[in-house]
Amino acid sequence: MKKYVALALGLVMSLSLVACGPSPEPSQGPADPSQQNTDAPGEKGKIGICIYKFDDAFMTTYRNTLEGILKEKGYEVVVVDGNNDQVKQNEQINTFVTQGVEALIINPVMTSAADQIISTVKDAGIPTVLINREPTADQMSVYDKLVYVGCDAAQSGTFQGELILETENQGDINGDGKISYIMIQGDPENIDAKLRTEYSVKALTDAGKEVEELDLQRGDWDRNKGQEIAQNDLAKFGNQIEVVFCNNDDMAMGALQAIQAAGRTVNKDIYLVGVDALDAALNEVANGNMTGTVLNDAKSQAGKAVECMEGLLNGTTYAPGEQSIYVDYVKVTPENVADFQG
Ligand code: BGC
Repeated sequence: MKKYVALALGLVMSLSLVACGPSPEPSQGPADPSQQNTDAPGEKGKIGICIYKFDDAFMTTYRNTLEGILKEKGYEVVVVDGNNDQVKQNEQINTFVTQGVEALIINPVMTSAADQIISTVKDAGIPTVLINREPTADQMSVYDKLVYVGCDAAQSGTFQGELILETENQGDINGDGKISYIMIQGDPENIDAKLRTEYSVKALTDAGKEVEELDLQRGDWDRNKGQEIAQNDLAKFGNQIEVVFCNNDDMAMGALQAIQAAGRTVNKDIYLVGVDALDAALNEVANGNMTGTVLNDAKSQAGKAVECMEGLLNGTTYAPGEQSIYVDYVKVTPENVADFQG
């Protein structure tokens, strides 16, 4: 854990120099008392945070971290649940605008609604950081007090493919010369889902492997859906399935339940990979029940989002084409999993 915190801090601090302008403060909370906030709670003004839905495992860690950092810095923070409903989120944004918040941090319900969101915050002149669901560069280019903080989703897909290539038989458990997989996808409207689906398989084909897609189904980032899809596919394709790709860990946790119920054993007769490095997934990687996962670094992203928000509040503006700030993903395997466990 210590190693990981040091690594994350290093990453946040080094990125801050390139991306969001110099920021002397680490965004991971005050390890050093001299860094501690001295403002009274709420003294720095009110920040509105819109989350696409609270009932999302990864976004729960993310929003709690974000809220903690902002409060620690002396902001008044209001976090609202969009309930996966874009109309509702638009109303929440309008309410924050009416209240005159200093800045907004928005995790859009739908990236297709980004135009409307951006036009609302632009008209109100509110500095805004978008997180987790990336709009296009074109959509963002209309407002210079707007920045996106997230990750390069293609990288997480590539890492998933590499995790399979690093196994003993490179994913070809039955030795028939091809890797037969099922893909359990997040919400396909989301760029993370699209790119993870594409790049996980691309890593295999780029390495010269033959692949066979037995099934691709949308599980909408949801554990129960992941479980159902894996259960149906295991019943239908049985031992043909060598690899289960899940666009996130929550769906992988569901798939693992189905895999175990079907009497299959991960890393022996089937491989399973996810993305996020949720605590539950880290435990399963450590126990050998998941082949691996990819750290979607909520702490660094939250730290970066706050840093960019403060940059905007201090007058930073963004040129078109330079409005996406990425934090790196990290591959998690049984060998390094201990570095990530709390
Ligand atoms: C995460 C998912 C999460 C989604 C929400 C993705 O980056 O990997 O776990 O459900 O974001 O938009």
